[in-house]
Order: sequence, then structure tokens, then C-alpha cells
Amino acid sequence: MKVNGLDYRAVWMEKEALCMIDQRVLPFRFDIVTSYSCQVSSNAIRNMTVRGAGTIGATAGYAMAQAFRDIPPGNMDQALIFLEQAKKEIENTRPTARDLFFATDKVYHAGIQALVKSGPQIAYQLALAEASSIADAYVFNSRMIGVYGNEMIPENARILTHCNAGWLALVDYGSALSPVYVAFKQGKNIKVWVDETRPRSQGAKLTAWELSNQGIPHTIIPDNAAAYLMSKGLVDLVITGADRIAVNGDAANKIGTLEKAILAKEYGIPFYIAAPLSTFDPECPDGDHITIEERDQAEVLFSMGPDKDGEMHEILTCNPGSQAFNPAFDVTPARLIKGYFTEQGIKTL
Ligand code: MRU
Repeated sequence: MKVNGLDYRAVWMEKEALCMIDQRVLPFRFDIVTSYSCQVSSNAIRNMTVRGAGTIGATAGYAMAQAFRDIPPGNMDQALIFLEQAKKEIENTRPTARDLFFATDKVYHAGIQALVKSGPQIAYQLALAEASSIADAYVFNSRMIGVYGNEMIPENARILTHCNAGWLALVDYGSALSPVYVAFKQGKNIKVWVDETRPRSQGAKLTAWELSNQGIPHTIIPDNAAAYLMSKGLVDLVITGADRIAVNGDAANKIGTLEKAILAKEYGIPFYIAAPLSTFDPECPDGDHITIEERDQAEVLFSMGPDKDGEMHEILTCNPGSQAFNPAFDVTPARLIKGYFTEQGIKTL
């Protein structure tokens, strides 16, 4: 998508550098962070420089490829131990995100086969090629999610979304927002209700920034306003992304998604999940088997923003000394989900 007239992806490789749009400082600053090692890239996933299912997956793939370049001198056994550790380190960054495991695993296997046969240089080249094709696939798939999802967006639709599942979260286009972009481009008169999405405010900061850049009408709402809006007939459909979808259709997504799905059911509003097939986990039977990441309480207790000179600061917004609990995701049971927008069409159970 374009920022200031230039095309960007959320994450990309430029020569030897992994480049990432720094999502921690948006919408106040547009910074690019670069990484030359697996360790720095893993850390960028952990500290939320990059976030969102597909962007985490693509970054993880590139990080795994970088590990092949980082192999220290030594014998093959040492190289294999090093790579195994690097893989674990990447996988431990964001445990709920299925795409993280999907991409890391694919790149690891592409590189390992070459390492044994042809040595680290070729292994790195092949691992990098695999990581790039994963990133390209996210771009293609998220575009197709938009094409299919758009079919469910009627003229004059008021769409509610939660968190950020736009192009920042899926390398390009997005999952939940991709259909919105297609609908708007087709000239449909639409409006988006953007849940602020505490505690990190990915809705108020990132989704609102994306929609503003595209000129799409939107309004930020407090997280607890959805019931009011739905009860007044002001929401026509809900679309969110997902971080992992179990075989039975239960879907983990940003904390607060479950509430919206329950409300949508109560008010007879269709609730859709948009996600590439890589987010569907064939080894996870149901939502009870999804690991829910618990994040630092500081995210709840503090908020970050710029002062009048543009300097970023973290300020305490809760009672000093109180503790906070910060589960990052919840699981929406399949029975509350009307359909899944994927790159192969709309799936129903
Ligand atoms: O910001 P995160 O990584 O903690 O939140 C995850 C997500 O981005 C969302 O749950 C999102 O809605 C689905 S990922 C496209």
C-alpha cells in the first residue's frame, strides 16, 4: 500500500537488510527499522516492532533465513544445533500466531536440506528464496481475501472491526481490511467503526492510520461501545482477522474479539473472520488447544504517545502500584462465526 505516494510492504528484504515498518511509533512517526541478524529480527517480533499474523509470519521466515547466514564457524553438528536454537528462539516470540510456526518451519526445512548437501552459502540463498516466496504469498493471498470478502459487503455497509488486520498486519492489503479496500475502490459507500483495541490501541492507532491514508470514512469507538452501536442498528457486519484457527473453526484473535462475536449474535449481525489458509492450524483440534499469549502488564498500565515536540513518552494511566492482567487473545467459538474469508473463497462450517 502507499505511504506518502510510495509503495510499501510491512516487511521486506533490501540486499542484506531486513526492513520493517516500526508499528510501535505509528501513527506519530513513520520509521523503518533494519535488522542484519536472526536475533535482532526475532527481537523485533517479540517487542512488537512488527505485529499481526501474516507480518509476523513473513518476518519469522526472513529471520529463519538470516540464521543460515549467521551460522558461526564449526562443524555440521554445531551448525545444526545453532539453527535448532534459532528456530526455537523465533517460535518463542509470539506463541499464539500460527503463521509464525508455519513460516519458520518452511524456511528451516528449505535451508536444512541445502545445508547438508551444499553448505551454508547455498543454504542461506535457498532459505531466503523460501522466505521471500512466503512473503509474496501473503501479498497475493490477502489480495484474494479482499476480492472474496467484498462479496459480503453490501452498499452503504457500516462495518465494525477490531484490532489491526490491515496491510500492516499481513505484509500488504490485510485480512479484515482487504475486503474494505476492495469495496471502497469499487465505489461502494461504506463506513468503518474502528474499535480502539486496548491495551495497545492497534485499532485507534494503526487501523485508523491505514484507513485515513486511503481516504476511507471511519470512526474510532471505545472498546465498550459496540453493544450500544449494535443495539441502535448502526452496525451491518463485523469483520476481524485471526491469529490461529483450529480444525473445528474456533478462532483466536485479539482480546475483545469474543465479546464482539457474542454481541453480533445477540443482535443478528453477521460476524466474519478473514485469514489466509496459513492461519488455519491442521494440528489444533479446537480453541481449548490454542496457547494464549500473556503480555506484560505495562501495556495495560501505561500508554504511549508524543508530547507537543513529537518526542514519544510512556505515561502511567492507572492507579500507581495496582497490578494488571494482560491476555493478548481470546478464542471465538466457531458457532458464532458466519464465515471465513480466505484466498480460496468464503469457507463456512
Ligand atoms: O497486535 P497483535 O499482534 O498482538 O495482535 C494480533 C493481531 O494483529 C490481531 O489479533 C489481528 O486482528 C489479526 S492478525 C491479522
